[in-house]
Amino acid sequence: MDEFEDVIRVSEANLAEAWPQQGSLCIECGSGNGLWVADQATKRPLEHWVAIEKKGQRVRKIARKKRNQQLHNLSIVWGKVEDTLPFWPTAAVKEVHILFPDPWPKGRHAENRLITPEFVQALSEKVQTEGEVHIVTDDEDYRDRIEHAFEGSAFQFTYDSAYQVGWEGVSTFCELWKKLGKSIYSFSYKRDSRG
Ligand SMILES: C[S@@+](CC[C@H](N)C(=O)[O-])C[C@H]1O[C@@H](n2cnc3c(N)ncnc32)[C@H](O)[C@@H]1O
Repeated sequence: MDEFEDVIRVSEANLAEAWPQQGSLCIECGSGNGLWVADQATKRPLEHWVAIEKKGQRVRKIARKKRNQQLHNLSIVWGKVEDTLPFWPTAAVKEVHILFPDPWPKGRHAENRLITPEFVQALSEKVQTEGEVHIVTDDEDYRDRIEHAFEGSAFQFTYDSAYQVGWEGVSTFCELWKKLGKSIYSFSYKRDSRG
């Protein structure tokens, strides 16, 4: 059995397969073992979910969940989020979720951080009006950088109480950090109407 049969590699032609013909598009960036995105795809079957993950071993775990749970509304993309972004459909993404992005705390590794002002600018072209971006981090420094990255962007910060618990129990890293007694910071943003 080829576990990667259902997995999409990054190229413009391949990625066109990831986007739904119908239903709303919700993307998770950095899905890890896919526990959270598989749970979402089960609970919200009318949305089309895309899991993007760069590590092959983790992609394999997501693919197993898709197969075992018969998640026809889940696409799996194996690659770096940044490489896929230019191929996301324009102004068509309903939700973007980023749960516990790697913080890369050392200054010399800063270029590896996913959430930067440039990334937020690119997201603003892809997310539909009133579309949402949700981010959760355990890292205080990254929390401040995230806030800074969204300043002056096309997104407005919103408090989404439902989202505060939406990732508990089903994000592997959330459970890990909670056990270690770490603080967890959660952000929700909404895309402004286009002028
Ligand atoms: C700390 S883990 C969190 C996993 C999952 N979201 C969770 O909450 O359990 C971060 C994940 O993002 C993936 N990742 C980091 N940077 C990425 C990138 N630029 N593109 C795709 N995946 C990335 C890592 O391989 C890892 O699986």
